[in-house]
Amino acid sequence: MAEIKGSRVAEKPAIPLVRSPLRGEVSRRGFFSVLGLGWAVFTAASAGALGAMGRFMFPNVLYEPPQDFKAGFPEEYAVDQVDERFKAAYGVWLVREPKGFYALSTTCTHLGCTPNWLGSEGKFKCPCHGSGFIKSGVNIEGPAPRPLERYKIGLAEDGQIQIDKNTKYQKEKGQWTMDGSYLNFTA
Ligand code: FES
Repeated sequence: MAEIKGSRVAEKPAIPLVRSPLRGEVSRRGFFSVLGLGWAVFTAASAGALGAMGRFMFPNVLYEPPQDFKAGFPEEYAVDQVDERFKAAYGVWLVREPKGFYALSTTCTHLGCTPNWLGSEGKFKCPCHGSGFIKSGVNIEGPAPRPLERYKIGLAEDGQIQIDKNTKYQKEKGQWTMDGSYLNFTA
C-alpha cells in the first residue's frame, strides 16, 4: 500500500505475467500446420489440373471395329457353310448357300447374348436362356421373340464380299427380300 501526502492509496495488485513456455512452440507448430495444409491444397489442385489436362490430351476413345468391311472373295467359301471368321471381331456369321450369301447378326434377339453355331445340330443356340435359331436365322425355340437380323451384303468393286452393318434387315418386317439383304452368287 502506497502513501501520498498523508492519504493512503491502495495499490493495484500487480498482475502476474504468466508466460506459457509452450506459447512460442505452439505458434510455430500452427504456422507449419497452415503451411503444410496450404501445400497439400496446392498439390491437390495441381494434380487435379494435370489430370484434367491429361484427359483433354488423351480423351477416352472407344475403338470399335468398322461397321463396313470386306470379307474376301466368294469363291473362298464352301457351300452350305456357316463361316465364323468374322464372329468375334465384327459380330457377323457369313452363311453360304448354293445360290448366294447372307450376313447374320450374332446378337440374340432375346437379351443380346451371343449364340453358338452347333454345326452337328444345324442351329444357333444361345447359352443365356436357350433360344435356338435355324441356319437362316429364324427363331425356333426359347424366349427369343424374332429371328436374328441380317446385314447388308454385296460385292465390292474388287470382287470381294462387302458387309455393311449400318443397314439391317428384319424378317418380321418383310425385309429379307429387299435388295442388299442377300448376295446372289453361283460359282
Ligand atoms: S439372350 Fe439369348 S436366349 Fe436370352
